[in-house]
Amino acid sequence: MAKKKVTKRSWAEPFKIKVVEPIKMTTRENREKAIIEAGYNTFLLKSDDVYIDLLTDSGTNAMSDNQWAGMMLGDESYAGSKNFYTLWDKIKQYYGMPYFVPTHQGRAAEHMVSQILIKEGDYIPGNMYFTTTRLHQELAGATFVDVIIKEAHNPVSNHPFKGNTDLNKLEDLINKVGAKKIPYVCIAGPVNMAGGQPFSMANLLEVKELCKKHKIKLWFDATRACENAYFIKLREEGYQDKTIAQILKEMCSHFDGLWVSAKKDLMVNIGGILATRNKKVYEEARNMVVIYEGLHTYGGLAGRDMEAMARGMDEMVMFDNIKARVGQVEYCGKRLQEYGVPFVKPIGGHAIFLDAKKFLPHLKQDQFPAQTLASEIYADSGVRGMERGIVSAGRNRDTGEHNYPKLELVRLTFPRRVYTQAHIDVAVESIATVYENRNKIKGLKMVYEPKYLRFFQARFEKL
Ligand code: F0G
Repeated sequence: MAKKKVTKRSWAEPFKIKVVEPIKMTTRENREKAIIEAGYNTFLLKSDDVYIDLLTDSGTNAMSDNQWAGMMLGDESYAGSKNFYTLWDKIKQYYGMPYFVPTHQGRAAEHMVSQILIKEGDYIPGNMYFTTTRLHQELAGATFVDVIIKEAHNPVSNHPFKGNTDLNKLEDLINKVGAKKIPYVCIAGPVNMAGGQPFSMANLLEVKELCKKHKIKLWFDATRACENAYFIKLREEGYQDKTIAQILKEMCSHFDGLWVSAKKDLMVNIGGILATRNKKVYEEARNMVVIYEGLHTYGGLAGRDMEAMARGMDEMVMFDNIKARVGQVEYCGKRLQEYGVPFVKPIGGHAIFLDAKKFLPHLKQDQFPAQTLASEIYADSGVRGMERGIVSAGRNRDTGEHNYPKLELVRLTFPRRVYTQAHIDVAVESIATVYENRNKIKGLKMVYEPKYLRFFQARFEKL
């Protein structure tokens, strides 16, 4: 009998499973009922009705035994908790910022940064928008201007750094409105809405030089910065021999300040960070946090949450952890490719972004192709993704019309250390089944629209 020859050595996760959480199996009948009740919005489903939850990687992580052990060491003092000081030391160590204010999650830090730095009539250039980030900038009186490179808006461009900033677009804006109207440039990486695409260190340096020339500050949405560092290590000349921690610190050294949704890289379930090297901004934030979050030594968190964040930071910079995480996303992408399912290339860091325009070409964008596709996948198998297209893009502030983004996507996001390869196989086969039956799929109409961040709560009906 011919025996198979060994042609490769597979990799596996650098951890094993100690605690398990049962998930409920659902039937097609249950799911069809559930998605109608949820107004075809996957954010409005009960998690009990979901089989494999790829809605987000935000706060959905599995913590390590070391993080859970740290939870028992929570110092729940109202003022001066020792966990706060442990966390502060780790922030200096990994992000290199001297000043820090904890927040309950990322958007609370976005709120404070926006209120402190922005004046009515200002402009904030950024490498594509993120939903909550842009809204806080707008609520503070600014107009957001997208200055990402054009490749980022093209789902089939294989550019290795689609998160890069277009220096010409940025310079044009500075020349048009004047540097005084631009309190800071906002850089995120990897860029969530572009498909989890990183920026390069070389591009960041160019942005920094331009900002320096015009005396404009540079702020960093460092929510998934370790994944950006991972792509720099793999793809950028000169970084192969550096550690993730070294690349992260080098990246952060170019910024005046940053915010982090700790619910991602830090592998916790809740938490946020505002950190800066600007003492004045820090003092304002430290004062503001007591109005909205809690005292500046807990910022809306329990002491135990801060301890889990501090310990999560040691794990977030471990190369093998990120490799396993990004490797799972890659595995999913490669399997989807076998079935010809269209998605954004290159495969991003935290998620696969299905290209709903290509998947459902018979639907016009105002029939909500991505919203439709997310609900069809859920009905097929109980796999939950989310819309990242016209619904997420909201309306134009001046005209009230829908924004029509070039990218109309369904995001399948991978919680860290939660699902196995077998779960991914099930998800892939379900999506491939929906793809085979795509011609029969009808679009949606919006029947309820909330004022802010409509994608979270909007309701739809079948056309
Ligand atoms: N910045 C980025 C790049 C994010 O992805 C998020 C959240 C935030 C800021 C806001 O942080 O949720 O802690 O308030 N992203 C989640 C997601 C919601 O599903 O992508 P938060």
